[in-house]
Amino acid sequence: MVSLMTSRSQIGIWVLVLGLFVACDSSQPKQAAGGGPAPAELQAGEAKFNANCAACHGSQAAGTGHGPPLVHKIYEPNHHGDAAFQRATANGVKAHHWEFGNMPKIEGVTPEDVDQIVQYVRWLQRQAGIQ
Ligand code: HEC
Repeated sequence: MVSLMTSRSQIGIWVLVLGLFVACDSSQPKQAAGGGPAPAELQAGEAKFNANCAACHGSQAAGTGHGPPLVHKIYEPNHHGDAAFQRATANGVKAHHWEFGNMPKIEGVTPEDVDQIVQYVRWLQRQAGIQ
């Protein structure tokens, strides 16, 4: 009986802890949508993203009618590592995940530029709880 009580109250605590986790998690995307300014060291990447990528991938990489959001689970670092961003920019992308059509290669963006863009996009992803 005593041990049953204990395990019940333990379950109660776990439910509480889990509830807190869920509560924290669901509040994170709202922060990102609030659109706080990027930290100073990411602003160069933000500017390059806005100049070269945002026309399709949207302000804050939230997506448009011409391209998908990069702040999305499928572009988390494990699924689309930084090399995927270099390849996409240098060679373009054949449509495979979405129905926006192909991404053209992006002229005039150097690998160093893409590095900065990736830093910025990873920061946006972290703000949204994607990592
Ligand atoms: C003309 C529109 C357009 C522009 C500009 C554009 N993209 Fe894309 N991008 C797309 C589309 C559409 C896809 C989705 C293709 C699919 O998977 O269906 C895509 C996919 C990607 C992917 C995923 C690649 C993969 O392996 O699945 C990355 C990374 C990416 N874009 C990065 C960038 C970066 C960085 C820039 C700016 C330097 C940029 N894109 C500019 C349209 C664009």
